[in-house]
Parts: sequence; C-alpha cells; structure tokens
Amino acid sequence: MDIWHMRGGRRLEGERRIQGSKNATLPILAAAALTPLRCELYRVPRLRDVEAALRILRCLGCRAERDGDAVAIDSTALSGCCVPQELMREMRSSVLFLGALIGRCGEAKLSLPGGCKLGKRPIDLHLDALRRLGARIEEDGAELRCLPSRLRGCEIVLPFPSVGATENALLAACAAKGESVLHGAAREPEITALAEFLIAAGARIRGLGTDTLYIDGFCPRRTVRRRMAPDRIAAATLACAAAGVGGDVRLRGFESGEISSLLHFLNEAGCDIIPQSDGLRLRAGGRLRAVGRVRTAPYPGFATDAQPLLMAALLRSEGRTLICETIFEDRFRQAPELRRLGADIRLGGRLAEIRGVEALHGAALCASDLRGGAAMVCAGLAAEGETVVFDEGHIRRGYEDLDGDLRALGAEIWLT
Ligand code: EPZ
Repeated sequence: MDIWHMRGGRRLEGERRIQGSKNATLPILAAAALTPLRCELYRVPRLRDVEAALRILRCLGCRAERDGDAVAIDSTALSGCCVPQELMREMRSSVLFLGALIGRCGEAKLSLPGGCKLGKRPIDLHLDALRRLGARIEEDGAELRCLPSRLRGCEIVLPFPSVGATENALLAACAAKGESVLHGAAREPEITALAEFLIAAGARIRGLGTDTLYIDGFCPRRTVRRRMAPDRIAAATLACAAAGVGGDVRLRGFESGEISSLLHFLNEAGCDIIPQSDGLRLRAGGRLRAVGRVRTAPYPGFATDAQPLLMAALLRSEGRTLICETIFEDRFRQAPELRRLGADIRLGGRLAEIRGVEALHGAALCASDLRGGAAMVCAGLAAEGETVVFDEGHIRRGYEDLDGDLRALGAEIWLT
C-alpha cells in the first residue's frame, strides 16, 4: 500500500520533462512478440504495467532486459503461446498479446485481462476483429483459446473506435496473408506509435492518424530501435495539478497538440497556456472559472483519461461545470472521495456536476483507479491542511515518479 501525504496550498513552479508513454509502450511490447525480432526501446517508463508486460514476454520465452530507461527484447526464441492467468490479470493491455500471439503462432491461450475498473470493458470488438481475420477463438468462462488458425486479409469495420481493439486488429492483420482494411479505427497517438513500430519491424501500413488503416503484409526485419513517445496524460496531470493550485510550470519533451482539447478547457478556465516548441508553459493564479460543459470523446476529442484530472482542477472554480463521460460507464469513482475534501460534486449516470467551492480542506481519501488516484493527489495539493491518499499501487501503474515531479515543482508531498 502506498500512502501519499500532501500539505496543500503551495503554488507549483518550475520545469519538468515528461516521461515515456505507458499507453504507447504497452502495445509495442506486445508487438515485439509478433515476429522474431531484436528490439532496443528507449525512454521506456518504469511502471508496474510495463514490468508486467516484460514478465509476459519472458514467460513466452523471449529475452527482455531493462537497463535504466532502455529495454532490450529478443523475441527470436519465443517458445510458447499461453499466458498464465496471474499475468493476464495484472493489466488490461495483456489482451494485446492475443493478437500478437495469433499472428506469430496461429494459436494462443490466454484468460480475460485485468486493468482499472472503469465499467464493463468487454473485449467483443477485439474478438470480432480477430475472428474476421480468420482466428478461431473459443471463450470458456474466463479463458480465451484460439485454435490453430490461418489469418487472411479482410475488411474490418469497428462500430466504435476502441483503442485496444484497433491495436489487436492491427497486430494480427500484419501477420495475415493479403491486405486488410480497418475502418473506424481509433486515432489516438498511441495507435500511430504502434503502427510506426510495426512499420519499422517490416509491416506495410498506410493511413496513420486517420480512421482507416490499410495493412498490406509484412516483410519482417530483424532489429528495431525506437524511442517511446512522451506520455500526454502524464503531461495533462501536471498541467491540471498546476491549474488547480496555481503556478507557472513548463512541461517539456512532449507534443502539446496531443492534449489540445484539455488545454482548451484550461484556457477557458483562466489559465495562460503558451505552447512551446517541445511542450508548453502554463500559468494559473487565483480561482479558475467553471467551463460550462465538457464531454469526453475518442481522440482528438477530450480524453476520458484527463476527465478526473480536469475535475480535480475545477473543484475551486467559480461557477458550475457539467462533465459528460461518454467512454466508460463508471469513471467518476474519484468524485465521492473528492467530496471528502469539501468539493461539491453531484453525480447522475454519465453526468457529473461540479459547483466550485471557495476552499478545500485536507482529508483521507482512497484511490481505486489510476487517473482517479492521480486526480485525488492533484486535488490534495489545492486543499488546505494535510491530505492522505491510500493507494494499492494504482497510481504507480501509470506514473514513474509523480511525487518526485510534483515535489520538484514545489509541492509538499511525500510517500510512506
Ligand atoms: C485505452 O483503454 C487506454 N488504455 C485507457 O487508458 C483509455 O482510457 C482508453 O483507451 C480510452 O481512451 C491503454 O491504452 C492501455 P477502449 P482500452 O477499448 O483500449 C468499450 C489509462 O488510464 N469497448 O477504447 O481498454 C469499453 O468498454 C487507461 O491509462 C467495448 O465495448 O479502451 C469502453 O467503454 C485507462 N468492447 C470503450 O469501448 C470492446 O471490445 C473504450 O474502450 C472494447 C472496448
């Protein structure tokens, strides 16, 4: 159990470099198993979920070694196509090994994945896409078994741009014979990062960054070197922390355009946002203003991952903000905890209404998911007195050193 302590009220000032992206790295680690490959990956964030993916690779017979922020993977000796349940349960992205293993071995045995509890999170779209490609997948309770299958290129239409289903379909389609067209694909930057990795590994993929991806075969290469993309949600977290308590921060080493929908709301709330060549500067002082209506949406819309963070930033705003969460059914779990700080948040189905209060006061909170936990930390920094966040390790699934980053910006925060 991590216990986060913070004494709120200190402005955040200074500069931080943004960590490598969790959600870009995890699919790339699965992709490393798709074809016999040696890859060197740099700026690989040290996170619980990333270490879990490396354990899966090792369990499959691959070599996976970390040296600082570099990870070397050799998947030439992959010897199995089964991932044990205890490894599958560690995170949601373990499901991406399904597409990778079917592509590599033609068969696979896995169980249902774990991950943050944000709603039902079925994997029907993943399975439909893989079955369209020819995978013979049987579901037996929590077990997924793909019988020996021959993949062939086809047209896949995703009825919703699921990030994970797009990634799984992309992985398997690379190994299929003939061209595949993936319509309705997710357009998140992490999809483009995966496609770029696959292209470097020999795949022919067109349509990057659009909702139609064309995947036309694979001419495997033996070695790939890649630097992981910066984590736009880690940048969003520090931006929301500074917006909520006030400050002047420079966030470096990421593409601010990737969080432009969040920056739009922070700007409307009264923050000065100054885009810079490799990041941004954010200045905030006094109380923010409410921003009216916010609606989460697939990229390039307002990211569901940033929703709890923006909520935290707006707790002391003047006025009323209505947030509509359209992606996950149960992503307001942070709200009842934030109320303990004195926040006025009313929930009704997919809507959360935030009525800004003049001041928050310290309290003891309990994190139950990654971004919700980070939102509690951001809110605690803006509360008077001491706040404690009890966390079973959710926050470390996505942040390398959130307390260190915030401390370096002047926050009074420590872990026990
Ligand atoms: C990815 O999850 C991210 N995780 C999530 O970030 C992020 O919140 C989410 O995309 C949306 O942007 C990783 O990249 C590892 P989805 P994923 O498939 O792939 C429904 C974080 O905090 N759906 O786009 O699981 C699903 O239930 C994490 O870093 C189906 O109905 O998201 C959800 O309501 C949390 N059937 C919606 O689609 C399916 O087969 C979006 O899910 C698949 C999804």
